[in-house]
Amino acid sequence: MSEYIPRLAEIVDIDIESPNTYLISLKLLDNENFSYKPGQFVMVSVFGLGECPISITSSPTRKTLQLCIRRAGKITNGIVDCRVGDVLGIRGPYGNGFPLERMKKNIIIAGGGSGFATLRSLVNYIVDRRGAFGDVAVAYGARTRQDLYFMQEYKSWQQAGIDVGITVDIGDESWKGDVGLVTALIDKFRLSAGSAAICGPPVMINAVAKKLMDKGFDHSDIYVSMERHMKCGVGKCEHCMIGPYHACQDGPVFSYDKVKSVL
Ligand code: FES
Repeated sequence: MSEYIPRLAEIVDIDIESPNTYLISLKLLDNENFSYKPGQFVMVSVFGLGECPISITSSPTRKTLQLCIRRAGKITNGIVDCRVGDVLGIRGPYGNGFPLERMKKNIIIAGGGSGFATLRSLVNYIVDRRGAFGDVAVAYGARTRQDLYFMQEYKSWQQAGIDVGITVDIGDESWKGDVGLVTALIDKFRLSAGSAAICGPPVMINAVAKKLMDKGFDHSDIYVSMERHMKCGVGKCEHCMIGPYHACQDGPVFSYDKVKSVL
């Protein structure tokens, strides 16, 4: 099948993650296998509106393909305005994903804002393959408590022996946890140097990477998922260039040493 022809996927569930963000569960109607890695993305089309790249939020170890979609424009609004039973187009998966075969067994996962959606795929992958990993810690920060994604899953991550730190920029009376930067969470973890997976705004990526390097992580073991404007998803349109790299094919995951100069 041409890489430009989308497969049809029915929406089977829609959960609200935050006031403007939804977790959408999909079932591919052709019943063909859909294999992917944490960190990859798909091109999602709303027929009649167009398509846009969306990170895969589910883990390939689980049955249902899930996408976390924030209202951010015409197409994402079109996706979240859909109902259960509606059909979307899916191309992909695209991009490289996290290089699990090269990553060390001790892993820290650090996310800020909506960038955490792609990291949830990796967290649940580790939960489901727990024996293959060592010490794992998750540090996640959002603007407010209402902006935190996947709150119902943190306990299951802790039960799998993962250190979970959550922080918000702005606390209120409903929030009893940390207030402040993701880097402050990292200070609380007992960490031995290993690999890291980071996604979030550039200022946060740089601050977390610096903190990890201070703790002995090598910059080539720190992997960053870069969000870039993508169009074709297959290396043809040049919309997604990061220096000499196509984010859609060479990325979206890069080792920090490759991209730190453009962050
Ligand atoms: S999105 Fe077209 S080249 Fe990367």
